[in-house]
Amino acid sequence: MLQKIYDWVDERLDITPIWRDIADHEVPEHVNPAHHFSAFVYCFGGLTFFITVIQILSGMFLTMYYVPDIINAWESVYYLQNEVAFGVIVRGLHHWGASLVIVMMFLHTLRVFFQGAYKKPRELNWVVGVLIFFVMMGLGFTGYLLPWDMKALFATKVGLEIAVTVPIVGDLAKTFLAGGEIIGAQTLARFFAIHVFFLPAALLGLMAAHFIMIRKQGISGPL
Ligand code: HEM
Repeated sequence: MLQKIYDWVDERLDITPIWRDIADHEVPEHVNPAHHFSAFVYCFGGLTFFITVIQILSGMFLTMYYVPDIINAWESVYYLQNEVAFGVIVRGLHHWGASLVIVMMFLHTLRVFFQGAYKKPRELNWVVGVLIFFVMMGLGFTGYLLPWDMKALFATKVGLEIAVTVPIVGDLAKTFLAGGEIIGAQTLARFFAIHVFFLPAALLGLMAAHFIMIRKQGISGPL
């Protein structure tokens, strides 16, 4: 049945070359844990990607209930967590995934670093990776404020105080991020926009560049 549907579409749109080009590649022996157990370190990039997909999907569902204003934000999260069917699971995925994705990205970065995989010709992909790293940090920082509880407020206060210590542009950066003098309505609206539109858009673009470069250059090694 599935084969029939596939053939029907393929006959009309010739999709086989497209997916073969994307997916039909041999995995080199040195990155296959079935051959060398230590090759499991090559999985960290893919695991980072897997959790990133979970973050995007769970985040999309969270926006169906989350209300980004200071009167309703906390209550909307409370409602989602305690009243909505599967709400606790969706929020749990996004909450724990946020930490796990950073851990995975860090392990992936360590793998690339200690194997020297950033060396010529992969320098540009390391640079893209560093940009991804900052975007991920930004997602963590802006997402933390959104539940609008005491922990969120004071964590953001600490984060903005750190921003102030940057020479010359520190004060400007803080005002720009907070949208004013205090952490208030403007800050929450701004963090929400950055968290769900600006940074995810940047992340998608950067990940596309990351994967295109990996495909073009192939995986590094064996050592
Ligand atoms: C969302 C975050 C990221 C995702 C989803 C991701 C994904 C991947 C994947 C799937 C690979 C293929 C090889 C592997 O899995 O080890 C890879 C390779 C690579 N990544 Fe990342 N990555 C991320 C972040 C980073 C960061 C933060 C850096 C460095 C600062 C980085 C630098 C590199 C480099 C240089 C390679 C080529 C390695 C080689 O050819 O051996 N990546 N990435």
